[in-house]
Amino acid sequence: MNGNKFDVLSMVARFATMLPFLVFPLMAGAADAEAGRQKAQVCVACHGPGGNSANPAVPSLAGQPKQFIVTQLVMFREGNRKDTQMSPMAANLSNADLNDLAAYFSGQPLAPSPRVTAPDKIASGRKLTELHHCVSCHGAALAGQMHIPRLAGQQRDYLRVQLRGFKASTRFDMDGNMTSAAQGLSEADIEILADYLAGMK
Ligand code: HEC
Ligand code: HEC
Repeated sequence: MNGNKFDVLSMVARFATMLPFLVFPLMAGAADAEAGRQKAQVCVACHGPGGNSANPAVPSLAGQPKQFIVTQLVMFREGNRKDTQMSPMAANLSNADLNDLAAYFSGQPLAPSPRVTAPDKIASGRKLTELHHCVSCHGAALAGQMHIPRLAGQQRDYLRVQLRGFKASTRFDMDGNMTSAAQGLSEADIEILADYLAGMK
């Protein structure tokens, strides 16, 4: 019986490692940004015009890497990542829908953040992103790449909630990298990082 339990756990671990590879074939079809713009009418009610959110609890989608958007929509659709507002929105999306939506939102310019971070907080925030290697994965400008999200200019409250979620392992994490990265952060670090990242232009 112990053996069975072990098998299930190793299967889950294997599936998590495979997820990025399962997602790639979904991206093979030609994505259509104009079709995405039409399909996005329902999304902008929460995510804001062009994916520029004005709601502190809702992330901006404008300028996020295409692969990141596709991956997250798959995870919401398959029930790995869960949110009472967002899960029902992804439940019935086809693979073509999520490719089109990602093509549209990734091509939208991110509006400059209206947040102003105090200069001393900018210095501490930058230091933390170097110390904890945020820049090695999220990019030097923290603008994201491939399946890794843009953090610069994102909503502060949203960033804070996600960082706490990774630390507590309540936000699903495709490959475990982000959960590991959050373990060394104190609550004070999370405050500073969210403030710094949200104010980045
Ligand atoms: C009723 C409000 C609402 C609607 C409508 C909505 N979303 Fe969301 N969406 C959210 C919330 C809230 C979150 C953050 C969930 C969380 O905290 O984990 C989210 C998260 C996301 C994310 C993850 C972004 C990130 O940075 O991790 C993507 C991608 C996304 N939504 C795409 C869409 C698309 C595409 C549509 C339209 C088909 C849509 N959403 C419609 C509320 C909404
Ligand atoms: C080893 C690579 C790696 C490192 C280091 C890393 N991240 Fe991440 N981060 C990721 C990946 C991959 C994701 C997407 C995770 C997922 O949803 O499966 C992510 C997601 C996030 C998100 C969620 C954003 C959103 O829009 O949903 C935040 C916030 C974040 N990272 C902040 C940070 C901060 C701050 C640091 C430094 C303390 C950091 N990351 C270090 C790889 C990394």
